[in-house]
Amino acid sequence: MKAIVYTEYGSPDVLQLKEVERPSPRDNEVLVKIYAASANAADWHLMRAEPFLARLENGLLKPKNTKLGADIAGRVEAIGRNVTQFQTGDEVFGSMPLNELGGFAEYVCAHEDLVALKPAKMTFEQAAAAPLAAFTALQGLRDKGQIKPGQKVLINGAAGGVGTFAVQIAKSYGTEVTGVCSTRNLDMVRSIGADHVIDYTKEDFTENGQRYDLIFDAVGNRSVSDYQRALSPEGICAVAGFTSLSRLFQVMLLGGKKVGLMETAKGNKKDLLIIRELLEAGKVVPVIDRAYSLSEVPAAIRYLEEGHARGKVVITVEHNNKP
Ligand SMILES: NC(=O)c1ccc[n+]([C@@H]2O[C@H](COP(=O)([O-])OP(=O)(O)OC[C@H]3O[C@@H](n4cnc5c(N)ncnc54)[C@H](OP(=O)(O)O)[C@@H]3O)[C@@H](O)[C@H]2O)c1
Repeated sequence: MKAIVYTEYGSPDVLQLKEVERPSPRDNEVLVKIYAASANAADWHLMRAEPFLARLENGLLKPKNTKLGADIAGRVEAIGRNVTQFQTGDEVFGSMPLNELGGFAEYVCAHEDLVALKPAKMTFEQAAAAPLAAFTALQGLRDKGQIKPGQKVLINGAAGGVGTFAVQIAKSYGTEVTGVCSTRNLDMVRSIGADHVIDYTKEDFTENGQRYDLIFDAVGNRSVSDYQRALSPEGICAVAGFTSLSRLFQVMLLGGKKVGLMETAKGNKKDLLIIRELLEAGKVVPVIDRAYSLSEVPAAIRYLEEGHARGKVVITVEHNNKP
């Protein structure tokens, strides 16, 4: 099968489309013929081994797992002997754990607990756009952020892969949502349900006198005192990303009870089913910026790394749409 492979850390130039052995499912795994995948920040963090800590995960000098790509959607081609939840031909979507990426390929083996039936009305691209970004938004808002109906919630980075899911998931909890993005994305962020939008090129959300019960930051470009200024007395700030190591360490060391990093998002069946329900109900609609082919994954990652994707960047994998 064809797969994107990297054998050394570096820029997207290290990514090569190669012929590799097709994996076989272990007892609890399904073999998925991939129809679509999506790119995440995790792909370029691992590809570049940036920050340096990524090397502890995937090899000090060179990558142990040479594949990338977390999110997948496709058709079950074969099942391991203990698989009970799926059969050959099922259309599924899901997300691979960070130490087992492999979605930028024609086939991948996934544990049956990490995939679910694809929402019937969604395209494979839409389904592949959702898992990791939606897990991040859901787990950040719910677990770290303790989101509750009626709250005033601010999403920083509302136009990005994670942010577009965060706006819609926060709305599904019955909250009043403010999205922060640049001028060109104001209409899009409004269109996915934000009650208010703030153009960060014109207004600083930490200086406008508003207070929020929950800030979900998918950018991570602000100081702890900025967050504190914009939070209500009982408010919580959940930080999902960071723009520099100093920002990361500041939040870790000085955040106190109110401001903190969310745990790294993890795929699990319970949350995947929650996401599927939101997708099926139309409460969450993936925003897709661009689609690239498998051989164009280096260009897709290059684009994502520029930091201004509008929603998700997806990969369409050639297939004949037959079992
Ligand atoms: N903790 C976890 O488990 C976890 C999981 C996934 C991702 N993450 C992290 O979450 C972050 C976001 O990921 P992503 O996939 O959403 O990235 P992304 O799609 O690349 O985000 C791009 C978005 O960021 C916005 N942006 C850039 N500068 C901004 C600013 N100063 N203020 C507000 N918005 C700004 C851009 O909007 P404009 O074009 O309008 O500027 C663009 O829409 C990354 O740092 C990633 O590493 C963490």
